[in-house]
Amino acid sequence: MASSSSSSTATIWLDPNRTIAEIPPLLFGGFAEHMGRCIYEGIYDPASPLADEDGLRTDVLAALRELGYTVIRYPGGNFLSGYNWLDGVGPKELRPRKRDLAWFSIETNQFGTNEFIGFCRKIGAEPMLGVNMGTGTIESAANLVEYCNAPTGTYWADLRAAHGFPAPHNVRYWCIGNEMDGPWQIGHLDALDYAKKAREAAKMMKWHDPAIKTVLCGSSNDQMPTFPEWDRVVLEHCWDVADFLSIHMYVSNHHDQDTPSYLALAQRFEDFVDTMAATLRYVKAKVRSKHDVYLSWDEWQVWHPGETNGRWREAPHLAETGYNLEDALVVAQWLNVFLRKCDVLKIACVAQIVNIISWLHTRRDGLLKHTSFYPFKLVSNWARGYALDVWVKSPKYENKRFGESPLLDVAATYDPATGAQSVFIVNRSLTEPLPTELVWQDGAPAQVVEAWQLTGSDPKQGNTWDAPDAVVPRRLDGVRMDGAALRLQLPPLSFTAIRAASRPEPGRSS
Ligand code: AHR
Repeated sequence: MASSSSSSTATIWLDPNRTIAEIPPLLFGGFAEHMGRCIYEGIYDPASPLADEDGLRTDVLAALRELGYTVIRYPGGNFLSGYNWLDGVGPKELRPRKRDLAWFSIETNQFGTNEFIGFCRKIGAEPMLGVNMGTGTIESAANLVEYCNAPTGTYWADLRAAHGFPAPHNVRYWCIGNEMDGPWQIGHLDALDYAKKAREAAKMMKWHDPAIKTVLCGSSNDQMPTFPEWDRVVLEHCWDVADFLSIHMYVSNHHDQDTPSYLALAQRFEDFVDTMAATLRYVKAKVRSKHDVYLSWDEWQVWHPGETNGRWREAPHLAETGYNLEDALVVAQWLNVFLRKCDVLKIACVAQIVNIISWLHTRRDGLLKHTSFYPFKLVSNWARGYALDVWVKSPKYENKRFGESPLLDVAATYDPATGAQSVFIVNRSLTEPLPTELVWQDGAPAQVVEAWQLTGSDPKQGNTWDAPDAVVPRRLDGVRMDGAALRLQLPPLSFTAIRAASRPEPGRSS
């Protein structure tokens, strides 16, 4: 994004011919781990009056459908590295009650692989399964692929049939472990040891089903001492059996209480992707390959400090802190970065989809949607077709972390199938409204169909059970095309989403 101006207005130039890449379908995914109350009391709660015939909470299913998740990653997370998938299949009364050493919680195994796939089918999302590279063996990883994807006639596929699922699940996306670079990980390995194990696991898994796509563990975040050397080593050893490299990141303003820097975090997200993209290109050249490996940002979220030790309870309340306006503006920028980087970033999963580190909280009688639920909903439902290479001239502001940052963060999309164009804009200013002009250099839409805005005067304002609609988007009236331009005043601390159409719709004046 370019910006250089001392004026107090901004201009965004758009052209539907100037595309970055087709928007990958799996860019708007989620992550569900056996941690806290994500699975139990979140997704699965057979004792709830809100549960359906499979024990899934219908209000949660409805909210997840509203968000349009396209892929869900499961079952962890750190939990994965101590998990035996066999504990979670077969008759529920025979499933073992176990200690989970990742979160010091009790795992009842009443929800497992088959229940997860049924859940994904209900919300229309692709399942993405992890195999345990901590305590797990390459054999158990390969067996799970056979269990899920092979036709009946051999042991593991027949076991699936005996469990009530004669047809293969055809799970396409497979994570080869989780955050294996982290000393906190059960069975943590150094880069070379992980690479050797992951390569052999991926080989066997692909021999069972050549159609599967593998996601290898990349760096757990950009502060790891092994970043980005870990990534180079893993890619060099595994390039031909890898389809994606996983990256993770969590952020918070909790310790710094520095909102100007916090609101400029898109810079850090972009830098992370750029470094990883450079590493991918370097390794591709070094191994002389025609094959491509892409990025999967399969854990990302604002995570404020909160309890993570389950003290040997079932479904403990862990990391349920909620989100405010500034968090929602960071999430909106994160989504903009995904669109701007979708030539190399093809999968992204927010961590997590309910209760734990989530913008969705359940209690017995209902559901609370936190602020950042709304930008995700707008972007995931509207970003279709191609991401556009927008050109932005924006005033800058100073902040401690990045020096100077543009006030505006922008992404835009164009869908040739429908003619729809969407523009997503964050105004990072804490105090100043910014007069902004959108100028189409070609292919201007005929009219604005809808515009929504999330804003407020207090960056710390959030939604609560008592005031669930304190920070929700409001529909903007009067946003109109003026020839090939559109002018609007963007309030400080705001996220604005505009959807325009190439053909006038009957009954609309602009
Ligand atoms: O999402 C919570 C945890 O954060 C995951 O289990 C782990 O992968 C990451 O460190």
